[in-house]
This record gives sequence, C-alpha cells and structure tokens, in this order.
Amino acid sequence: MNINWDLLVDKAMYGREFAYVPYSHFKVGSAVLLKDGNIIYGCNVENASYPNGTCSERNTLQKMISEGYKKDDAIAFVIVGQAKRPISPCGMCRQVMSELLNINTPVLLSNLEREYVFTTVEKLLPYAFNEGDL
Ligand code: THU
Repeated sequence: MNINWDLLVDKAMYGREFAYVPYSHFKVGSAVLLKDGNIIYGCNVENASYPNGTCSERNTLQKMISEGYKKDDAIAFVIVGQAKRPISPCGMCRQVMSELLNINTPVLLSNLEREYVFTTVEKLLPYAFNEGDL
C-alpha cells in the first residue's frame, strides 16, 4: 500500500488536540495506519500522580490492540509533538513499539512545522529485549 504520510501526520495532529496535559502542557499525537485502511490515533493522557500518565505512542498502540488489530496489521506509525526538532519518543514507548509493531515498520517523527525524520522501530530501539529472551 502506498503510504500517504501527510495524511497520517494530519491524523496524528488531530489526535494531538485531545491530549490531556494539565501538568506538562506538552501535547503529543500519534497515528497508526492499518492494512484495512483504517487509521487509529491517540494522544498523551497525564495524571496528578505523574507516573500514571501515558504517552501518546502507548495510548495509540494500546487502542490498536484493543480494537482487535495485531502488529502485522500495522503499516506505518507517526508521532507529532511541538518541538524544535521532530519529536523523539521516550525509552518506554520505544520498548512498547518494539512489542506491538514489527521491527521493520516505518516510523515518521515530526514537529508542528512538519519537519520529518523517517526511521523504523528497530532503528529507534536496536537489540530490543523481546519475547524471545524470556
Ligand atoms: N510524551 C509523549 O506522549 N510522547 C513522547 O514521545 C514524548 C513525551 C508526553 C509525556 C508527557 O505527557 C509529556 O509528553 C511531557 O513529557
């Protein structure tokens, strides 16, 4: 399938608008394109007990799973945040991406100016701990 990256960024930006960020005021959005053409988006959701907050990436990928999709259904993943450089996902999200996406899945990092960095799950977290290690 031909990936319309600009449309995926649009969806991530749309999801970003729903961010619940009363503490950091730092909105992040993300979106995953699925083989059936569906796009699932999400945002970060914070909590007064700070560690209970969830990053946008984990929110979106957990939505993907709870909607009945598997990692093989995911074609591409996009993350958007307001930063000088395209957003860089945190370590915890990189680990979750390596579990819920295939390691060769393309990932686009963007900021609000639409500066794009194209990468993959594996490049974001090489030599990841995974089910094969258990
Ligand atoms: N955050 C994300 O949602 N994704 C990222 O890639 C970086 C950080 C969130 C976590 C927290 O709600 C806020 O941004 C500030 O760290």
